[in-house]
Amino acid sequence: MDIQWYPGHMTKAKRTMQEDCRLVDLIIELVDARVPLSSRNPDIDKLGQGKARLILMNKSDLADAARSAAWKAWFEARGCYVVLLDARASSQMKSVHAVIEEACREKRERDRRRGILNRPVRAMVVGIPNVGKSTFINTFAGRAAAKTGNKPGVTKGNQWIRLNKNVELLDTPGILWPKFEDPQVGIRLAAIGSINDNILNLTELCGYVIRFLQKQYPQALAERYRWTGDCQAETDVYEVLAQAARLRGCIGKGGEPDLDKAAQLVLDDFRSGRLGRVTLEAPEQ
Ligand code: G4P
Repeated sequence: MDIQWYPGHMTKAKRTMQEDCRLVDLIIELVDARVPLSSRNPDIDKLGQGKARLILMNKSDLADAARSAAWKAWFEARGCYVVLLDARASSQMKSVHAVIEEACREKRERDRRRGILNRPVRAMVVGIPNVGKSTFINTFAGRAAAKTGNKPGVTKGNQWIRLNKNVELLDTPGILWPKFEDPQVGIRLAAIGSINDNILNLTELCGYVIRFLQKQYPQALAERYRWTGDCQAETDVYEVLAQAARLRGCIGKGGEPDLDKAAQLVLDDFRSGRLGRVTLEAPEQ
C-alpha cells in the first residue's frame, strides 16, 4: 500500500522550529508509544544538538507495556530522558516536572557558575501531528499557568507559559513530520489514525492490522472476534472481517457481511485500545 501524504508547508515549519530551538534549553519531544520510531522525525536529533532532551512516550495507555519498557531503555541508551505518559492525565505531570528538573540540572549548574541565578529553564514541545502536543501542553500547564510577554531577544510573537519559577514553556508546539519516504512508516501511522482516513484504502489498511495482530497478538483477535485461525492468505483476512461483521451486525442489503464497514469497525477497535494494548514496532527490529 502506497500512502502519499507529503505536506506542502513543511519547509517553513522546519525553519520556524530551527529558530525556536535556539531559544530553549530543553526539547520535549512527544512520540506515540505505539510507534515510537515511526512517529519521530530524525531531523530533531540534529536540531536538538547540545540541548537537554526529554522524550515523552505518549498514549502509553494504548501501548504494550513490555515493549514500552524496551523502548524507554532504547531511548535512554541514546542520551534522552524518557517518561511514559498519558497526556490527558494531570496526575502524571508531577513525574514530568521531576524529570525536567533532572534533565536541566547540568544547565542550572553551568548558570550558577557563571553567576546567573534563578533563570528559568526554557523548554519547547515538538512532535508529529496528532501525537498529543496540545493535550500535553494543556494538561502540563494547567490553569495555573501564566502567559509571559514577549522578551527582548526572543522571536517576536513567541509566547511563553510560566509553569513555575523554574520552567517556562514555549506556548506553540513545533510540528514535525515523520519519515514519510518509508512506506512502512506511512502504514503504521495510518494504522494508529494519524493520517487522514479519507486518503486511505481502509480495507487494505485493516488487512495490514489484522495480519500484524495475527502474528504478534493473536489473543486480541481471538478475544474480540473469536478468530483463532491463520492469516497467511488474503482470504483469511476477509474471513476475519466477515466474522467481525457478523458479530457486530454489519450486514449488507443482500444479507452479506459488509466488509468495508467491518474494516472501519476493526480499525476503530484497534485505535481505541479495544483490541488491547498493542505496539507496532519493537526496538530490536
Ligand atoms: P496534537 O496537538 O499533537 O495534534 O494532538 P492533540 O493534543 O490534539 O491530540 C490528538 C488526540 O489524541 C486527541 O484526541 C487527544 O485527546 C488524544 N490524546 C492525546 N494524548 C493522549 C494519550 O496519552 N492517550 C490517549 N488515549 N489519547 C490521547 P481527540 O480530540 O479525540 O481527537 P481524535 O482522537 O478524534 O483525533
